[in-house]
Amino acid sequence: MKILISGIKPTGHIHLGNYLGAVKNWVDLQNKYSCSFFIADLHSLTMKISAQELKQQTFDLVVDLLAMGIDPKKSIFFRQSDVWGHAELSWIFNCLIPVAELERMTQFKDESARQPDNVNAGLLTYPALQAADILLYRAQYVPVGHDQIQHLELSRVIARKFNQRYQKFFPEVQPVLSDSPRLMSLNNPQKKMSKSLGEASYIAIRDKREIIQAKIKKAVTDEQGVKNLLELYSYFGDKKKHSQMTKDFSTGQLMNVKLKEELSLAIIQFLEPIQKKIKELEKNPSRVNKILKDGAKKAQKIADKNLKEVRKMIGVD
Ligand code: ADP
Ligand code: TRP
Repeated sequence: MKILISGIKPTGHIHLGNYLGAVKNWVDLQNKYSCSFFIADLHSLTMKISAQELKQQTFDLVVDLLAMGIDPKKSIFFRQSDVWGHAELSWIFNCLIPVAELERMTQFKDESARQPDNVNAGLLTYPALQAADILLYRAQYVPVGHDQIQHLELSRVIARKFNQRYQKFFPEVQPVLSDSPRLMSLNNPQKKMSKSLGEASYIAIRDKREIIQAKIKKAVTDEQGVKNLLELYSYFGDKKKHSQMTKDFSTGQLMNVKLKEELSLAIIQFLEPIQKKIKELEKNPSRVNKILKDGAKKAQKIADKNLKEVRKMIGVD
């Protein structure tokens, strides 16, 4: 079976952009590929995050992903830091990739600008760790949102460099995009919905009814904004109403208040069962932690086997 992997950082709350751009696809693809999904906690260290925050946010994210449909019976679900090979392989990749390639990365530039007092080396070499996350499992398919395409291209460059210098071992990584690879912010529809743009930018999976209503009420309704709300409605709302509202939009007859009301309702309904599952899972933290530990064992086995071969190829076995 084709090997697929993806990860997500435990920073802030998971939102509908993450869901529609990545996680929804993860859930659907579990039946078609040999899947692994992980919490990219080592990547979170590139930001200022306390030990306590990292622990709590990792737990919350695991719960969220399970509630959204990641199934540990179908997929290997683990925490990046539990599998030792990620950090080791990333070092090997750091020694293959020119600094200039890393400096070109949009995420590096954006993050450096966002936290100018913390432009750490990890921010720069972040894509080498990401390439290691993928190639440690010799995975070829990576479901992500549009913003990660550049990092996946770099993973391809790294794999090619390794294969040329040593032996052909790693596959060419390919992104798998969803129907909604770039959902825009509610309060700034020119930019992608993102945790880093603040609470008003996104609907979090855990947002309560009143918060959802308030955020959507305040959403910007310029042309791009309304298009974005209609796109959201197309995923969560009623098909007939959606096509009627799309028609009304094109003839200038759409009532934004109505669209916002319908959209709030649709999202609240969609999130209700997920939030219920979150509550259930939170009651049983030892079960949640066991899922991660079991996943790590499975991942470690594959990682060990591949890393053993890599060590031989580069002369450190
Ligand atoms: P954020 O930008 O909110 O911090 P992450 O970097 O944690 O999001 O992204 C996790 C996954 O969700 C990645 O695969 C990313 O491409 C996807 N993603 C993030 N924001 C969006 C968005 N607005 N639209 C579609 N996909 C997104
Ligand atoms: N960089 C990704 C993001 O910001 C998270 C990530 C880390 C990832 N390692 C990965 C995604 C490997 C796919 C594959 O969203």
